[in-house]
Amino acid sequence: MHSGAPRSSRSSPATDSLRARIATLLLICACKNASHTAPDAGVDWAHVAASVYLAGEDYRESRELDGGLDSRRPAIDHLLALAYDESGSADVAALRRRLQKPVDYDFPQVCKQVAANIEERAKLPMAPPGKPDLDRGAPVFATACATCHGKAADGVPEIASPMDPPPSDLIHAEQSWRPYDMFARVTYGGLETAMPSFGDALSVQDRWDVVFWLFAERWPPCARKDAAMLSASELAVSSDFDLSNKVPYDAIACVRWNFTPPSPSPDGR
Ligand code: HEC
Repeated sequence: MHSGAPRSSRSSPATDSLRARIATLLLICACKNASHTAPDAGVDWAHVAASVYLAGEDYRESRELDGGLDSRRPAIDHLLALAYDESGSADVAALRRRLQKPVDYDFPQVCKQVAANIEERAKLPMAPPGKPDLDRGAPVFATACATCHGKAADGVPEIASPMDPPPSDLIHAEQSWRPYDMFARVTYGGLETAMPSFGDALSVQDRWDVVFWLFAERWPPCARKDAAMLSASELAVSSDFDLSNKVPYDAIACVRWNFTPPSPSPDGR
């Protein structure tokens, strides 16, 4: 290179455009490298957290059946192994070791805590992006879910098909579920059960519509005129038990049926 030659004198439209292209290329490489060095790059943390949560739920349910835990342990371990492969999380590795204990009454609770820590650390968006539409939730349920879970969502299928385990009663469901947990379950499906994953088949809005509808439908119509309204963001991460600590019991129906749109700020997670 001629050290004395001013750069501008060698510039032409052609070399300028070449330079611009090289600069773009370098930029792309730099970004790729940056994302390679970031520890969490490309990890679907929502999936990892949902898998850990499901492992805990499945453990709790199979522990209640005679010999259920021993027969489900390999499937639960497989689920956690995939979550570990995806995330490299030491907490997930610890859960896999814990799973090998004969019986561990704290296992479901520890899974819940690990899932909550992941949600917190990865700052997962846990609120619906738009306001869930209960009027749309009912037809989504009739089309996508009723065949297995029954018209009334009570777990009595419309088809006479042996499913083991059988479809769950979604109306008289567990107190401790948050709508977000059900959203994740609908998105990713069951653990080697007939419960499909709807991540591709239903839009995000459809999944939130049906989940919010299921959480409202289990209550009688709202009987109070004075009930406060909560935002969809807050409702998404509140189980019915959580709500019973926030509003009078007979107002839970009201806050599940009438709510404000999700808050745009991250504190609405
Ligand atoms: C092909 C049958 C089938 C369809 C369709 C189906 N499910 Fe399921 N679902 C099941 C079975 C079987 C289970 C129980 C096994 C399990 O928990 O994975 C289940 C479990 C669930 C659970 C977990 C409940 C619990 O207490 O553990 C939720 C939530 C759920 N389904 C929601 C839905 C929703 C919402 C739809 C429609 C968008 C739907 N399912 C469509 C078969 C189905």
